[in-house]
Amino acid sequence: MELQMLGLEIMDNKHIEFLALVEKYKTLKEGELSAYLNEFKQHLVEHFTQENELMEKYGFFAAHCHIGEHQRVLEMLDDMISSNNKKEIDTYFTELIYDWFNNHLNTMDYVTANFLINNMA
Ligand SMILES: [Fe+2]
Ligand SMILES: [Fe+2]
Repeated sequence: MELQMLGLEIMDNKHIEFLALVEKYKTLKEGELSAYLNEFKQHLVEHFTQENELMEKYGFFAAHCHIGEHQRVLEMLDDMISSNNKKEIDTYFTELIYDWFNNHLNTMDYVTANFLINNMA
């Protein structure tokens, strides 16, 4: 997918990193999945924590909603990892994550970035 830039470097850089990591799934070799899942989870926690902290620091009006969505996605990831179901994991990284990110980027992240651009000192 083509990454839409939001105009806030700190968020855009995380999104470039995120997409590269999702794309990396397709190149995994035998025995690399477990380390990859850890790496992906680690990225997602950092990515979401960074946005959550920015929203709280600058008083974003819909922070509660956006933070709740991040929490939901982390819980979904944990469920998916602990399911240990190869087919489910495959569907997640080849379909679901793209649909989710495309939507999230164009709604919550988009509105958040615009707010931060106008409100960060
Ligand atoms: Fe994001
Ligand atoms: Fe977000």
